[in-house]
Amino acid sequence: MRAVDIIQKKRDNIELTSEEMSFLLGEYLQNRVPDYQMSSFLMAVYFNGMTKDELKVFTELMMNSGEVIKFDGIEKFLIDKHSTGGVGDKTTIALAGLFAAFNIGTAKLSGRGLGHTGGTIDKFEAIPGFVFPETRDELVKMVNKVGTGIMGYSDTIVPLDKKLYSLRDVTATVSSIPLIASSIMSKKLAVYADGIILDVKVGSGAFMKNLKTAEELAKTMIDIGDSFDRKVVTLLTDMDQPLGYAVGNANEIIEAIETLKGRGPKDFTELVETIVATALQIKGDVKSLEEGKEKVAEVISNGAAIQHLKDFIEAAGGNPKLVDDYTLLPKFKSEYEFKAKKSGWISKIEAEEIGKAAMVLGAGRATKDDIIDHSVGVLLTKKVGDYVEAGEVLAFVQHNDKNLESSIRFLEGAYTIVDEKVEKNKVILEILS
Ligand code: URA
Repeated sequence: MRAVDIIQKKRDNIELTSEEMSFLLGEYLQNRVPDYQMSSFLMAVYFNGMTKDELKVFTELMMNSGEVIKFDGIEKFLIDKHSTGGVGDKTTIALAGLFAAFNIGTAKLSGRGLGHTGGTIDKFEAIPGFVFPETRDELVKMVNKVGTGIMGYSDTIVPLDKKLYSLRDVTATVSSIPLIASSIMSKKLAVYADGIILDVKVGSGAFMKNLKTAEELAKTMIDIGDSFDRKVVTLLTDMDQPLGYAVGNANEIIEAIETLKGRGPKDFTELVETIVATALQIKGDVKSLEEGKEKVAEVISNGAAIQHLKDFIEAAGGNPKLVDDYTLLPKFKSEYEFKAKKSGWISKIEAEEIGKAAMVLGAGRATKDDIIDHSVGVLLTKKVGDYVEAGEVLAFVQHNDKNLESSIRFLEGAYTIVDEKVEKNKVILEILS
């Protein structure tokens, strides 16, 4: 078998056999197929897509390129909620309290942030003393004790994805639905969960810029889940503006805590309520989303959710008192008031620009070796559809004297204010399963 023949077949839109795919990917992983041939294969996939059978085989080969984990010894129903990446997405922090309140386990691998989107691992590390389990046994113990166990991604899980992703990044082949779907699903399938909830972000700050491509991605991932007998529900959610008001690390921890105390932003609260209600439906505990949401509202108002988050923080080595005393979190030195230049309705808050405004302050990484400053970030005061007076504060820039001007420039590029009234964005655009 020769790589060039396989590339030619894909170029001519002829379905590949599993032997051909296995040969190509296997040889690539062993560095016996060079990057230039794999690049050209990826470009052929970009233009011609993959058949259902090809996608299943491709995803399986990716998944099996490294370790496949089933956390033995966990007694809970496991839900893995995964987001395709957004700005201000602190969902996993809130879910640590909410899922546990319903005896739903979380045993997952999470990522660090790169570029304009933050990562869950970085956000939790804003909590002084917080450490993630280092071994699987530690993680299993933690899940059984407090319901939630999260570890950083290791290089042993789907190594082929890492290699291919770096190549896609420099060959303009990231935005291919089958390649994104197999990349995400291979990682989800490699770590066992009873149900998978995928939060596919849609909008200017996300991979998927419009609803049509997001639907296509969602359906492709559901199909992959089906072919592996795994339940997948996808939520298509708004990323035409940041989620909630806080973008950073410590400030996102605070916003997630406030949400579990019933004082969260409307969009973020609705998103977490819907995710947990979906999880309860998958588990079979409720008959409808509405019933699920009522139960979620209950564990927020009776304090169960916040207590579970405290337990999780304590089990990870953090001080649970910070839930009621935010001075125990890292604190920025100064706050700059970014004000509106004109009066009107806010029609756009570009999530990507806000993400970059926070990143340059130190809240995120431009390159993977950058060190995070957990205290800094951007705190919005308004959302799309709100009215603002000229001179009113649109956002607080929470900084430590690093790159403030550059952050302000990103903020200036983020907002559009218009004279006509603007509708508020819906956070949940669609649910597919
Ligand atoms: N997230 C992934 O994990 N993979 C992609 O290809 C795109 C987003």
